[in-house]
Amino acid sequence: MNNIILVGFMGTGKSVVGKLLAKKLKKDFLELDEAIEAREKMSIKDIFEKKGEPHFRSVEKEVVKEASLRKNTVISAGGGAIIDEENFKNLKSSGIIICLKASPDTILKRTKNIKTRPLLNVPDPKKQIGELLKKREPYYNKADFSVNTNNLTIDQVAEEIIKILT
Ligand code: S3P
Repeated sequence: MNNIILVGFMGTGKSVVGKLLAKKLKKDFLELDEAIEAREKMSIKDIFEKKGEPHFRSVEKEVVKEASLRKNTVISAGGGAIIDEENFKNLKSSGIIICLKASPDTILKRTKNIKTRPLLNVPDPKKQIGELLKKREPYYNKADFSVNTNNLTIDQVAEEIIKILT
């Protein structure tokens, strides 16, 4: 359905890059975490705290299903979305999946002062990043293409994606 789906770990730049990419390509932009927050009328942090991760994942699944029916949209998916097989299939059927990557150190640097990510709001975020990345790597590698964002600006990542697409 002509969508571009950005996946990858927290802090790899999916949302900022997605927004810019949508503007450059004159496509709509959809941030799945924002759609989840709008649906639940609650921040992601509060959803995890008050309703638990399984509830978050079930809302995420509904939002992914609906997003996959859209056309001509750049979709930024939360870092855990494609770990679920059904989510992966739905997103894959709707367009090209591009994974943004970054090293654990870069991810730590980009996420350490932001407390809105419950999975990284732990005593040892560095260890958590390493463990989660290892677990999730095979899923992220199922993307059609990937871009290493370590040393690139937001604009450079968007341009790199445009190059991939053309
Ligand atoms: C998550 C990533 C977050 C958000 C939630 C869970 C994950 O999205 O969906 O906190 O499991 O990796 P971002 O990747 O946009 O931070």
